[in-house]
Amino acid sequence: MSLSAAEADLLSKSWAPVFANKDANGDNFLVALFEKFPDSANFFADFKGKSIADIKASPKLRDVSSRIFARLNEFVNNSADAGKMSAMLDQFAKEHAGFGVGSAQFENVRAMFPGFVASVAASRAGADAAWDKLFGYIIDALKKSGK
Ligand code: HEM
Repeated sequence: MSLSAAEADLLSKSWAPVFANKDANGDNFLVALFEKFPDSANFFADFKGKSIADIKASPKLRDVSSRIFARLNEFVNNSADAGKMSAMLDQFAKEHAGFGVGSAQFENVRAMFPGFVASVAASRAGADAAWDKLFGYIIDALKKSGK
């Protein structure tokens, strides 16, 4: 459940320009997810039933997006380390399954994430496949947790 060194390198090079502007890009990522998959917002107590305009204006947006980006950064930094990935995936899946979030929600993330990254900066060939693999591991871990 880890990426090859070459895939991890592609991932980290594609992630670097996104994380370099993590506050704005974190907010943009979450808003893009909610715009494409409106039901996603309803999983978050702070955003349930709110319009995109209200979510954009909410002081909670940065709280949530910064936690997501910090965790994605850890995944990127450890993606070639099988031991760390296994522990992180296990914790991540248990955590999200506990919030009622499962593989269906992460299939949505998997579908929009390469496009989101490309909206910040062009990635090298192969980067999309590396992101797909990472989210595939997350989805497998959620399925293993029963979600
Ligand atoms: C893109 C990858 C994602 C990452 C890296 C991520 C990461 C995190 C982290 C670090 C937390 C905080 C855990 C804690 O402090 O206890 C969290 C909480 C949460 N996540 Fe995710 N998440 C992601 C995607 C999603 C998606 C797609 C959904 C649902 C559609 C979701 C729903 C939640 C909910 C409901 C919470 C509970 C706390 C809250 O309401 O703020 N997450 N997530």
